[in-house]
Amino acid sequence: MSSNAIQSVLVENRVFPPSEAVQKAARISGMANYQALCAEAENDYEGFWARLARENVVWSKPFTQILDESNAPFYKWFADGELNASANSLDRHMGTPTENKTAIIFEADDGQVTKVTYRELLDRVSQFANGLKARGVKKGDRVLLYMPMTIEGVVAMQACARLGATHSVVFGGFSAKAVQERIVDVGAVAVITANYQMRGGKELPLKAIVDEAIAMGGCESIKNVFVYERTASPYAKEAGRDVPFSELLAGQSTDCPPVPVNAEHPLFVLYTSGSTGKPKGVQHSTGGYMLWARQTMRWSFDVQDSDVFWCTADIGWITGHTYVAYGPLAAGATQIVFEGVPTYPNAGRFWQMIERHKCTIFYTAPTAIRSLIKASEADAAVHPNASDLSSLRILGSVGEPINPEAWMWYYKHVGQERCPIVDTFWQTENGGHMITPLPGATPLVPGSCTLPLPGITAAIVDEAGHDLPNGAGGMLVVKRPWPSMIRNIWGDPERFKKSYFPEELGGKTYLAGDGAVRSEDRGYFRITGRIDDVLNVSGHRMGTMEIESALVAKTDLVAEAAVVGRPDDLTGEAICAFVVLKRPVPTGDEAKAIAKELRDWVAKEIGPIAKPKDIRFGENLPKTRSGKIMRRLLRSLAKGETITQDTSTLENPAILDQLANTN
Ligand code: PRX
Repeated sequence: MSSNAIQSVLVENRVFPPSEAVQKAARISGMANYQALCAEAENDYEGFWARLARENVVWSKPFTQILDESNAPFYKWFADGELNASANSLDRHMGTPTENKTAIIFEADDGQVTKVTYRELLDRVSQFANGLKARGVKKGDRVLLYMPMTIEGVVAMQACARLGATHSVVFGGFSAKAVQERIVDVGAVAVITANYQMRGGKELPLKAIVDEAIAMGGCESIKNVFVYERTASPYAKEAGRDVPFSELLAGQSTDCPPVPVNAEHPLFVLYTSGSTGKPKGVQHSTGGYMLWARQTMRWSFDVQDSDVFWCTADIGWITGHTYVAYGPLAAGATQIVFEGVPTYPNAGRFWQMIERHKCTIFYTAPTAIRSLIKASEADAAVHPNASDLSSLRILGSVGEPINPEAWMWYYKHVGQERCPIVDTFWQTENGGHMITPLPGATPLVPGSCTLPLPGITAAIVDEAGHDLPNGAGGMLVVKRPWPSMIRNIWGDPERFKKSYFPEELGGKTYLAGDGAVRSEDRGYFRITGRIDDVLNVSGHRMGTMEIESALVAKTDLVAEAAVVGRPDDLTGEAICAFVVLKRPVPTGDEAKAIAKELRDWVAKEIGPIAKPKDIRFGENLPKTRSGKIMRRLLRSLAKGETITQDTSTLENPAILDQLANTN
């Protein structure tokens, strides 16, 4: 957020209470009902969660235990219960009117539309699961997915879950190196991918990247690569290892009994960036996760039988897990799955699709909104006004703070001042929404995610863990464990404890890693951004250390690098890299050429989303005499501020001028 935007958040005093019509129609209607649920959770915490677990989850073996804190912070929920996540998404609807309802409306990049009912989806998932089973995939195995946004992507995730295999989805924009690291870390037995993905009219290779990843070595655990032939274009096949979907599915029955797993069984591992080291494999449970995926669909989105829900997130992110692959299905909703990009064939695509499919609940990221504002200002034909958006009833935002200007535009032009906006705060580690308005209850304040969901004990504390009063900024924490929380970092319990349950806070309080402040009047939460070395670029999480490691891995060129974020109007934050080369500081065209080389390098090491926007060269980095990099100064330089801080402890003040220039 720019400092202007932060300022306007702090003084924001516009309030939008739900209209009477919205309130009347909603499942949780009015603040009194919200408060009653909060009180229920407070009075009998375990009883509250047990009720929700019974209401939301179909248990093949009912649980008798609720919360087990004996090995905190490795909490267990419903630990003696058994279930299957796929049965909870699909089988539960068989024999009900939902069986023949449309589960997915798929719109391909080129506009072609395919629909599947719940019955058809169950058949496809079962057939796919049988195919995997025939190739030896079984309960407890890990399977890596590198898939485009397609029905097949959802089917593959569900099929893994059906067998009790733990999936690990890698976003299709990540590099071969990122794929390889995740295969090795999670110990995957198979990869499910596509020959190509279609984005914005372009065919992009996925299978070739998987080949490259496996060729890097350390991937001996991989027995098969299953390939969805998304396009007719040829791709390289390795005999014995690579199996196209057509072969995988041939002759397989559409009947596959779901394998019951323990409530704590890892449904998936999803990698995300932390402040140090390599990305961490966030391990989620099955029982608690499925509970919250369905419950938040019903609370935050108030999903009803007649709704057409659309979450624009890719299945490679947590939002695409909870609000594409599991939540909408568990809730029996009709949902839109979109393969393409918001700007193809033009920047009105989202609005045109809302009209075409009569979408009622639309959930996207501030970054997308900001870029579409810009596009619609330049071309009236792609403005939301050019489409019929009268079907919409609820809007959602996720992934980063939404600045009040973007909020107002979304509210006015997309929601036509009729639709509440749920600004949902949560994280990969949380499994589902944590702090969010309820559409039929919470008066909205632009730029604020308002109040925690019932049962979520979010608070703001100082460094010593003491509660802070409204108006005082501090660290966002969650005081009690909740069912959909992260269970572990795959293979690294020590890092799990250190990252999320630091000793300084007593070892049992969940540390979110975000700064937050509550408003004086309503106690509403506003997230002020990460307090660690994690950046949020277009809603994508990235560790500064990760990018630094990638830069210094270019050993022929780079001696040292430091990465910081700076505010950016479009992407929220932008990546700014300060680089010391193993050669004299370049200028002019040479500097531009090296900057390009480094950007391409980072794209290869991590993925294009990690490319630094600014690259600056210097003979050194600003360091104290003891050799510590002064990141505070780098952040000021990145913002283009004149340095007013005390630089007397700097070893080499002259390099500040050098580092002020962008390439
Ligand atoms: O900084 C917060 C920001 O995104 C981070 C989590 O990123 P990730 O794990 O990738 O999950 C994103 C989607 C759930 C948080 O630590 N963030 C997410 N939602 C919001 C937000 N910041 C402000 N407001 C939000 N609604």
